[in-house]
Order: sequence, then structure tokens, then C-alpha cells
Amino acid sequence: MSTIGLPMPVLRTPTLDPGDGFTAHDENSLLDQYDRRARDLRISLTDFCNLRCTYCMPAEGVEFMSRDAAMTREEIVRFVRIAVEKFGVDQVRFTGGEPLTRKDINEIISGVAALEPRPNIALTTNAIGLDKRAAKLKAAGLDRINVSLDTVDPETFETMARRPFLHRVLEGIDGAQEAGLDPVKINAVLLPGVNDHQAPDLLQWCLDRGLSLRFIEQMPLDAGHSWDRGEMITAADIFALLEPRFVLTPDSAPRNGAPAEKFLVADRRDPGTVLGTVGIIASVTRPFCADCTRTRLTAEGRVRTCLFSHTEVDLLTAMRRGADDEAIADLWKGAHWKKLAGHGMDTDDFVQPQRPMSAIGG
Ligand code: 5AD
Ligand code: SF4
Repeated sequence: MSTIGLPMPVLRTPTLDPGDGFTAHDENSLLDQYDRRARDLRISLTDFCNLRCTYCMPAEGVEFMSRDAAMTREEIVRFVRIAVEKFGVDQVRFTGGEPLTRKDINEIISGVAALEPRPNIALTTNAIGLDKRAAKLKAAGLDRINVSLDTVDPETFETMARRPFLHRVLEGIDGAQEAGLDPVKINAVLLPGVNDHQAPDLLQWCLDRGLSLRFIEQMPLDAGHSWDRGEMITAADIFALLEPRFVLTPDSAPRNGAPAEKFLVADRRDPGTVLGTVGIIASVTRPFCADCTRTRLTAEGRVRTCLFSHTEVDLLTAMRRGADDEAIADLWKGAHWKKLAGHGMDTDDFVQPQRPMSAIGG
């Protein structure tokens, strides 16, 4: 089996005293005790979704948050403004659940696009309904889009997403490309015995359409807590699955803290012709925590410093009680300061967070 030339993960040791040595006013950035600065804000707009992917949500019995509990459009734009003005955040990604199930997403995006300085605005979506909405999202200020698509086989799709909606997703992807959203990135999770053998076909399908595919190692964020480290498809497995058909050459372009390790792809029968790229996001086997520049807000306006946090800090209640920007920024900074060095997924004493992925926001 091939191994991928990724650097070994590094865990940083604290460089600053998290106690008396720190006051929330120390810096105009969102800093943690491992000297990482968060510039990338991920906001979940809702925990609702019209699919039920097995690695993300339970089949049934999901209790969604009440409408009142979720941040309003104005609250979301205010949180982003605080992050842009006080922390220098320059990237905002809207996630879910499924963010397109929020009717006011265009207004949220245009509100964020009007901020100074304007952050780059991205969306992670399952693409259902995107065919009708892509042009308006782009006009509102959406810069980049990632679509979750694990298979192009209708039966496998229904097994994985528990809904027979592959055609709607494919229409959505077409619509995004027609609207001129470029690049359209595709995120795929491989499950053993379900869609792992389809990896080369999915890559070929994406190459044929100019879509930029990234495989993401499955993380323990399923509602059923059934993730098994021994069973999961690793980056090395993905490489081995693709290699019989494709030649993968590490892309020499700088990674700039991006989680995906990128490879140039050529067909093995014509190795001199580069057809496109593929990314592999090895969150489990090659974690990139030491370079993590992310901070997250759940749809209820709580800070999560990591997907795998066991604690959240409630900013929305403070905002609703009349806290000013300075006070909200201080609460956020205090929470972020405690961001852990790493998620520890690959260790024996790892404990999966209570909330499934849909309720955290990818
Ligand atoms: N492991 C890895 N990726 C996941 N996603 C959802 N759940 C998981 C998981 N358990 C991905 C989806 C989507 C993005 C938001 O996160 O495929 O692209
Ligand atoms: Fe919905 Fe995305 Fe979760 Fe699938 S992975 S259930 S599309 S939120």
C-alpha cells in the first residue's frame, strides 16, 4: 500500500500563560494559548437537514432546535461584524445542517458582503434546491461553494443519505456551475463496504465536469456513535483505491494551512496529461490541529472552538441581554483561549462529542 507524503502532526505546547498572563484585551485577534490565531469563522445556520446521511444524523427521532433558539439574520451579521472588526476574521463559511433550508440565506450573505473589510464568503451545502438559487446566492455575494456528494450511484446515495434525492443534488451542482460559481468543490466521505469501491468512478465523474473533489476521512460525529477507527477508510486507503486507475502527484502549490493535501491527477494510461486535482483531508490519521485557524458558532450562537469540543460558550444569550460588541468579543476571546491543542481522535481515550455533526456545523 502506498503512503502519502504528509507531514507528521505536531501538537503545540502552550507559549503563553493561560492564567494571569492573559487578559482578554491583549490583542486584536482571536488567539489561543497555543499561539494560533483564528481567521476563519464557520457558522451553522440551522441544525435542520433534508437528508439523513448515516455518518452525520440519526435515521429518525431528531429533535430540531426551535426557531427562536436559532440566531436571526441580524444576530448572525452582527457576530460576523464583531469577528471581522475585532479579530481580523477574513473567511466566513456557512454550514448546517443544511444552510439552504434557511429562507433568509441571501439576506444573511448580502449583509456579510456589505461589511468592511469584506470577508470571503463560502457555503457548504448538499445542493438540494441549488439549481433554483445559485444565481441569487452569487449575486448576494457568495464567493465559494462546497457540495457534499459521496456517490453518483442512486442506490448507494439512498443507502447513505437515507433519501432518494441524488437527481436533485446533481441538478443543484449543474445549477451552481451554470451560475458561474467557480470552483465548485465536492466533499466525499467513504464508508467501508458502502461506497469505498466507487472512489475512482466518483473522481472520474468530477474530473469530467471540472469539479474539484476532496475525500474527507470519516470523523466520529455520527449520531449512532458507531464510528470504528479500525474500520474507517484512511487517507492511505483512499490513495490505494485510486492508484490502480490514476497517477497522483503531490501538488507543489503551497498548502497555506488548508486541510486538504492536493494531488494532480492523470489517467494511468496517459500519465503525461493532468486532468485535474483531488484533495485528501486526513483529519483522523494526519490531523492538522497545530495549524487550525478556525472558530465556530452553532446555530444557537454558541462558540465551539473545535468540532470535537465538549464545551460551548453561549454568546447569543449575552447578545440578547444587551451586551455591547466589546463584551461579546471578550467572551469569545475567553472561550477561544481555551481551544485544545488537538482533537485526540486517534488516541485510545478519545471521547466523541454528544452532538452529531448536523448539530455542530461542518
Ligand atoms: N466525518 C467526516 N465528514 C463529515 N461530514 C459530515 N459528517 C461527517 C463525518 N462524520 C461532512 C459532510 C459535509 C461537511 C459539512 O462535513 O460530507 O461535506
Ligand atoms: Fe445533511 Fe450534510 Fe449531514 Fe448529510 S452530511 S445529513 S447533507 S447536514
